Amino acid sequence: MYVCICNALTERRVRQAVRDRRPDSVAAVYAACGVTPQCGKCAGTIAVILEDETAPALRLAAE
Ligand code: FES
Repeated sequence: MYVCICNALTERRVRQAVRDRRPDSVAAVYAACGVTPQCGKCAGTIAVILEDETAPALRLAAE
């Protein structure tokens, strides 16, 4: 599924970039994917994916 139409970014590509590059912000996710945000409408979805991919690691670190 495409999460960013402007840059043709799929959810799979975003999740893989988060896992591989460990970005710490939405802006860093775009950079990890090698793109620049255009309209910004996908920023909320990118933030949710970033949270989803990093939350388990944060939970493990707190244990
Ligand atoms: S949909 Fe991602 S920048 Fe426009």
